[in-house]
Amino acid sequence: MMNFSFSEEQTMLRKMVRSFVDREINPYIQEWDEKQYFERGIMKRLAGLDLMGVCIPEEYGGSGMDYNSLAIVCEELERGDTAFRTAVSVHTGLNSMTLLQWGTEEQKQKYLVPQARGTKVGAFGLTEPNAGSDVAALQTTAVKDGEDYILNGSKTWISLCDVADNFLVFAYTDKTKKHKGISAFIVEREWPGFSSKAIKGKLGIRAGNTGEIFFDNVRVPKENLLGEEGEGFKIAMSALDNGRFTVAAGACGTIMACLEESVKYCHERSTFGKEIGKHQLVQQMIAKMEAGLQMSRLLVYRAGYLKNEGIRNTRETSLAKWQSCDFALEAANDAVQIHGAYGFSNEYPVERFLRNAKAPVIYEGTREIHTVMQGEYVLGYREDKPLSKTLPAWPFENQREAAIK
Ligand code: CAA
Repeated sequence: MMNFSFSEEQTMLRKMVRSFVDREINPYIQEWDEKQYFERGIMKRLAGLDLMGVCIPEEYGGSGMDYNSLAIVCEELERGDTAFRTAVSVHTGLNSMTLLQWGTEEQKQKYLVPQARGTKVGAFGLTEPNAGSDVAALQTTAVKDGEDYILNGSKTWISLCDVADNFLVFAYTDKTKKHKGISAFIVEREWPGFSSKAIKGKLGIRAGNTGEIFFDNVRVPKENLLGEEGEGFKIAMSALDNGRFTVAAGACGTIMACLEESVKYCHERSTFGKEIGKHQLVQQMIAKMEAGLQMSRLLVYRAGYLKNEGIRNTRETSLAKWQSCDFALEAANDAVQIHGAYGFSNEYPVERFLRNAKAPVIYEGTREIHTVMQGEYVLGYREDKPLSKTLPAWPFENQREAAIK
């Protein structure tokens, strides 16, 4: 059976996030973007609407909705600006969902519950100055010292670097074992030896907080090792299965915003005696945006469906992320084209969409990494074996029990 409809709850969720974006983000975003200012209040207000842990089970402080509901939140947030969708991607997709999948009960109670409620913010520390696509090239180390680990190194391009309370950090516990020597740790900002610094002057997502984090002999208790020693690479990759899903969904939001602005402008502006929307070459750009939106959504919701079923979805998520981000970049480029010279100025938001749309083609696996992955899957060089630990299938256990009663 295939089901292409949204539940009533999902339709209400979309409406709620859309009106939040129109009220709380759209009137101010141009100024925040110009000032390279991250409005922290948005995350607090999202928490107030129970949107910081949409697909985290209620028993861990979340809303207990399904994984495609997270996609809906991401789509609608990015319709406002990529910065706030990125914040949810990092907090929920890369951090909280990873705790849900890999954390011990104690780790879930201590870190996941406050994050899902939105009283604490989570982020993800994988990339380093010399380790982006090539994850195993990372240099941060965690050396055993009695019951603790001592963390040294730095991470870069970390979203929410100045904002997050807790970070998932990946470090070598045994360099000789290559990728099997990487381990994952939950690290708190307040611990001695931790510092952060924002990167300014980015091309896009200028209203976001992104930068470096540094560890100078940070003492991490052994209880904060996530998974087993040596499972860090796997944990990072499984986190990316969720992060990439939210990025793909967000890209649909950029395409929606491009369509909205372009359709409006098509009716406002006339050339050669008619609305520009009546010119076939303009219609072609609008039609491509629509096709890109619908194809991206199908790929995203299929990946979300597999998550709901508790089935590994690395391949499907990678395809959704690759395609939807490419479609979004093309849509933003065409939206500027439709606006002509006006699109080249900040009198209209489409120039921001174009600058923003470049980042997701780079982060969470570049277009090239995803292209290679897809080629390898088809050629039989890569396959997704079932994992020892997956995300819990939806409806979550306690919801299933409640439904049976
Ligand atoms: N879940 C669990 N385990 C996984 C996995 C997954 N999704 N993917 C791979 N693994 C396991 C494999 O089973 C394998 O295990 P064994 O060693 O036991 O066999 C191990 O991990 C190695 O996997 P691969 O052979 O696939 O590793 P590879 O070297 O071929 O890696 C790669 C390939 C696809 C290039 C990968 O390194 C990659 O995806 N690179 C891109 C990194 C990336 O996306 N970085 C983004 C940074 S975060 C970010 O951008 C956030 C932000 O700012 C917003």
